[in-house]
Amino acid sequence: MAPMARILITSALPYINGVKHLGNLAGSMLPADVYARYNRAAGNEVLFICATDEHGTPAELAAIDAGQTTAQYCDEQHEIQKRVGAGFSLSFDWFGRSSREPNRKLTQHFCEALEANGLIEERTSRQVYSIDDKRFLPDRYVEGTCPNCGYEKARGDQCDNCGTLLDPVDLKNPYSSVSGSRNVEIRDTRHLYLLQSKLQDDVRAFVDARADSWPNLTTSIAYKWLDEGLIDRSITRDLSWGIPVTQNGKPRPGFEEKVFYVWFDAPIEYIGSTVEWADANGKTWENWWRTDKGADDVTYVQFMGKDNVAFHTVSFPVTILGSKEPWKLVDKLKAFNWLNWYGGKFSTSQKRGVFMDQALELLPGDYWRWYLIANSPESSDTAFTWDHFKSSINSDLNDVLGNFVNRVTKYNAAKFDGKVPDGGQPGEHEAWIAKELETRLPVLMANYEAMEFRKAAAETRAIWASCNKYINDAAPWTAYKTNVEQAAAGTRTGLNLAAICGIIAQPIIPETADKILDALGIPKDKRSLDIAKLGAGGYPALLDALPRGLPISVPPQLFSKIEDAQVAEWTARFGGGQ
Ligand code: MF3
Ligand code: ZN
Repeated sequence: MAPMARILITSALPYINGVKHLGNLAGSMLPADVYARYNRAAGNEVLFICATDEHGTPAELAAIDAGQTTAQYCDEQHEIQKRVGAGFSLSFDWFGRSSREPNRKLTQHFCEALEANGLIEERTSRQVYSIDDKRFLPDRYVEGTCPNCGYEKARGDQCDNCGTLLDPVDLKNPYSSVSGSRNVEIRDTRHLYLLQSKLQDDVRAFVDARADSWPNLTTSIAYKWLDEGLIDRSITRDLSWGIPVTQNGKPRPGFEEKVFYVWFDAPIEYIGSTVEWADANGKTWENWWRTDKGADDVTYVQFMGKDNVAFHTVSFPVTILGSKEPWKLVDKLKAFNWLNWYGGKFSTSQKRGVFMDQALELLPGDYWRWYLIANSPESSDTAFTWDHFKSSINSDLNDVLGNFVNRVTKYNAAKFDGKVPDGGQPGEHEAWIAKELETRLPVLMANYEAMEFRKAAAETRAIWASCNKYINDAAPWTAYKTNVEQAAAGTRTGLNLAAICGIIAQPIIPETADKILDALGIPKDKRSLDIAKLGAGGYPALLDALPRGLPISVPPQLFSKIEDAQVAEWTARFGGGQ
């Protein structure tokens, strides 16, 4: 037997400022969960880590809006996101917080290590300060007149009218977009700069070594940044909410009012969250993260939306490589395009689209999981529409999966006393479905191995559909009238197929899979997705795996159909269409 692989999986850390929308779920946390569940079911050792990303100006501003301190706000939002994640069956081994102690220590440690290696420099820069807001304004919170085209609402980082990239100090008539105040001035401020330019060659070598195994979307973004040349970037900010800047373990002189930039500390929380998990569970984290301490056999897989790729292929590797310490670097990186809301974007600030908590008010997590994986924005952006959602759920889950399991278990209850029937011999129909499984199951597993989630969902559905075709062709209810033995063989095969339908459903719709497998009395250790184990006895054996005489119950109703009236109601509530 192949030795168990050790797989570290992280999902991009959801930002703390409110519950995430379905686009965020589809582009990182959900596929990461499906991959974690697949690997666990295939017998691998998995550590699946996530956390809330809690620092930065947007968190501070959201807290002000909510009338809370930033710390209170983050406490509350963390709990909400954790609960909502559980509602979608996201099986994190740990869902941490970037504001906790382990991340603080690690972030300060990385900065000090980078400085010891000559990769940090203090520099003075000029920044817009808002006197009324009592804060330096990050680029996107300064607006004003574009020096290039005269547009009066240009953002500090870019003019939306002419597209020119801007430095906020170049805006004419600048004002704060936080308060609208024009009472702003330009002040000198000192910051720590990470000399990324010195690590250009190291990062390129790191990317080169992995480029072949990364999807196109990932490598093209990484090389775009490398080809443009890495620029030194400031890793501190004039803010109070964040990780304090230290030198030799003490507050860094001149930086008492500053903290690390959120994008510097956030990815370090992948490690920090693992430390939280280890501390809480009496485990060690080093053998997941330190290649000198047992992590050399770990495969590290990251999931994220495409806007995060540069930070994970370039910026975070700069931090790690620059430390010159033996930290684990990412091996596989799966990036996603956007899930759109009809023609436009989901938007947190404009509250457009469906948010995770709202989705759970409408339907159980599995419905959303199925739709979002079957239509995963893998190779291009995809659009959510209510009609598409409805037809996908009604056809795939109700008509194909639910109907099959329901028919077979009910028929067995009615005619064979709810026990796996004995008697009868396999014939041509059984040979056909065994062949289907022999062809399709390895393809399904290969799709998962390749992290091709849309294809995995399509193959799962195809297997469910083949099971339907089998039972229609074998038609035990017809055979029963003339040949009870043959009906027994058909029903028995159908029940075994229901078990397979449930086993392959586990990564994508875990709650439903459990309902099916529990009703069929399949012990937990017999739910393996390891193709070597599944196919070990030959595929025909899969059709006769349940012990004859085993009592089977009819699972509770698995799905209900989405009605036109619901679509109308949801469209009215959330918009969409036109
Ligand atoms: N919070 C970021 C976002 O929503 C993602 C952070 S990923 C991390 O885009 F690696 F930096 F944590
Ligand atoms: Zn302009």
